[in-house]
Amino acid sequence: MQVSGSGSVPVSVIVLAAGQGTRMNSDLPKVLHQMAAAPLLHHALTTARSLDPARIVVVTGHGSEAVTAAALAFDEAVDAVLQDPQSGTAHAVAQAAPLLEGATGDAIVLYADTPLIREETLRAMLDARARHGVVVLGFHSPNPGRYGRLVTQGETLLKITEWKDATEAERSLTLCNSGVVCADAQTLLSLVAEVTNDNAAGEYYLTDIVELARKRGLTAGVVLCDETETQGVNTRVQLAEAEAAFQARARSAALENGVTLTAPETVFFALDTHIGRDATIGPNVIFGPGVTIESGAEIKGFCHLEGCHISRGATVGPFARLRPGAELAEDVHVGNFVEIKNAILDEGVKVGHLTYIGDADVGEFTNIGAGTVTCNYDGVMKHRTTIGKRAFIGSDTMLVAPVAVGDGAITASGSVITENVPAEAIAIGRSRQVNKLGLASKLFEKLKAIKAAKAKG
Ligand code: UD1
Ligand code: CA
Repeated sequence: MQVSGSGSVPVSVIVLAAGQGTRMNSDLPKVLHQMAAAPLLHHALTTARSLDPARIVVVTGHGSEAVTAAALAFDEAVDAVLQDPQSGTAHAVAQAAPLLEGATGDAIVLYADTPLIREETLRAMLDARARHGVVVLGFHSPNPGRYGRLVTQGETLLKITEWKDATEAERSLTLCNSGVVCADAQTLLSLVAEVTNDNAAGEYYLTDIVELARKRGLTAGVVLCDETETQGVNTRVQLAEAEAAFQARARSAALENGVTLTAPETVFFALDTHIGRDATIGPNVIFGPGVTIESGAEIKGFCHLEGCHISRGATVGPFARLRPGAELAEDVHVGNFVEIKNAILDEGVKVGHLTYIGDADVGEFTNIGAGTVTCNYDGVMKHRTTIGKRAFIGSDTMLVAPVAVGDGAITASGSVITENVPAEAIAIGRSRQVNKLGLASKLFEKLKAIKAAKAKG
């Protein structure tokens, strides 16, 4: 993590992730449920990191160990702190105080269960700090349900009222609290330290800082965003809705960035998918985590890609599966019903059909025939297969690893290759063919006679 860039004040981000998520009906902590092939927590952390913050603090509670591990897996520079018991959102923010001692500049509070907030929205909040001591992210909702309501007067935010504590008049307001707030870091911490739990829920409400700030003579203001951005995940239905919203956004972004999607609504992206300009993605393509596709590559329909890198000019599919560690150099062709795992395919390699390449290195311009299998697993250990440049692996070759095939070598179709093949050699690893003249017609006659005898009974 770096110190905030471009002349702006430093920013610290506090991500609240202590809640239980009872309504998910799950053993897994809510913020570890997956959306776009990443835990919800990673979505909030991705948005947080987009601000180049000086620090990120995750407040954990339920499933603290697993949530902390997920935070560190995202970025070792993230700090995690335990909130126990979980006595409310202000109490949660207060737990970050020791980690933010001496922090200068602003602090933003995000919720780990609200994964769709955009970087631009947070930047608008940071900009609004020039006008207000406390900035709250709000949204208009036609069905505001039990969200906290923002009570405003002109440009000024007077207070936030939790639904449980709201009057009928306040409940009729449609301007809602997203929960995201921004203030000077030390001011925020001193405000949450003053919050009491004198309310309907008996909790320390972060929302109380608005009135407390105003008592100190600070002003509070609202930045608005679209309701879809503040969509929270409390149930599996909402998780599915958030996933759909993420995918819709990712598809639009890909199209705007110059990627062709022939059937956008059937393509599913991961949080960290990177696709270069002028790449083409066919229908029904699924991206798992860790995929990078360079400009001009083509992924045909029905492919499943995960943890792989596809270079310029490569073509993949239809019906191909690329698993972690698949590295395709420029102009590689991977065709239908091919699986590649932990393997490096150099420039111009062709693997056209019905093949498994795992734990292998394949040299440039080598051709791999249909039905080839790298037999990489002996039941206990994995072994590597190394194939040289411009080699020709005949159809249905079994390469029993560890084994190496030299540059320019050929393996005969149907070979079981158990020994290294020298460069430019032909390896034939199969038994010789025998032709028995006339035997076929004799066999047919015999079989027909048996059938006729059976029919008579
Ligand atoms: C909160 C807001 C409400 C707003 C709504 C938007 C308060 C008091 N209310 O209500 O105005 O409209 O969000 O979704 O802030 N959390 C902790 N520790 C705690 C309590 C909560 O880390 O002790 C975390 C939760 O994991 C969650 C977030 O804070 O990520 C919000 O908590 P939640 O209990 O869902 O707040 P709401 O009642 O929805
Ligand atoms: Ca909530």
